[in-house]
Amino acid sequence: MKVLVTGASGQLAHAIRLIWREHDLVLPEESVLDLSQQTAIQSVVSTVRPDVVVNCGAFTQVDRCESEADLAHLINATAVGWLAEACEEQGAMLIQISTDYVFDGMGTRPYREDDPTNPVSVYGRTKLEGERQAARCSRHFIARTSWLYDAWGKNFLNTMLNAAAQGRPLRVVADQRGAPTTCRALARQLQVAAEQGWQGLVHTTCAGETTWHGFAQAIFAAKGLAADLSPCTTADYPTPARRPAYSVLDGAHRRTLGPDLMPDWHEALLEVLEEGTTDGHR
Ligand SMILES: NC(=O)c1ccc[n+]([C@@H]2O[C@H](COP(=O)([O-])OP(=O)(O)OC[C@H]3O[C@@H](n4cnc5c(N)ncnc54)[C@H](OP(=O)(O)O)[C@@H]3O)[C@@H](O)[C@H]2O)c1
Repeated sequence: MKVLVTGASGQLAHAIRLIWREHDLVLPEESVLDLSQQTAIQSVVSTVRPDVVVNCGAFTQVDRCESEADLAHLINATAVGWLAEACEEQGAMLIQISTDYVFDGMGTRPYREDDPTNPVSVYGRTKLEGERQAARCSRHFIARTSWLYDAWGKNFLNTMLNAAAQGRPLRVVADQRGAPTTCRALARQLQVAAEQGWQGLVHTTCAGETTWHGFAQAIFAAKGLAADLSPCTTADYPTPARRPAYSVLDGAHRRTLGPDLMPDWHEALLEVLEEGTTDGHR
């Protein structure tokens, strides 16, 4: 398959580059495929003529989205509509990556795909509109995922390891529950979805759940590091954007579609740590 990937400099795009090796991958830099430019999207899609477009590009800085709502809407929603139109013209499949932040976090059991959404941040609202835009392409697959990280990129794992290496005391929120998900696990699952032509909205996270504090504890335990880690509450650590308190996603629907390649979050963490991170932490 010929596959066009947007957001080439991001952490999920990097996982796709490593994992989808059997396919003919095109990952233009942002200077070539700038999602804020409709003409760039149309021109790249019509030149590459992909079978599949994986939209990994997004305005992912959740707090910055609050003060730059227009830009967030342009990249996370409007651009997805342009991609959907371009894919439709080519007969290509559009894979859109969405987020657990479409929910308000007041739930008490894992969210299913048909549970009502109610985002509490600009990021969540723009990503939800991105889902609607992606669905305008007749061949679309929308993977809602959560708490992405891997050995590379700017993410919670590398932030924790860097802080511990500097001996900094860490206070980490213990009242937000979700599922840490590795980019590599998601990339493997997306590859199957693309190859088998899965359709629609599908929750795609690692299994199990924890808090950010629990995730940090697991990182330090697995590394044998005695970090100075203590729990705090969301209220102790105010941020511009609100985050859902509970955003675990139910993977039952996905498991009916085909092979389930999403491991338990803890197992996925060990896989990443065994390999070592790009920051040199082993
Ligand atoms: N990270 C998470 O925890 C998480 C959770 C749920 C869902 N998701 C979704 O998963 C997808 C992949 O996220 P990720 O973690 O890989 O994010 P990431 O590492 O921030 O990658 C997103 C990439 O998009 C690029 N980008 C921003 N504006 C662009 C533009 N105008 N044109 C082209 N590219 C642009 C960014 O470049 P710059 O860095 O140069 O801006 C960045 O390289 C996104 O759709 C995100 O919303 C992420």
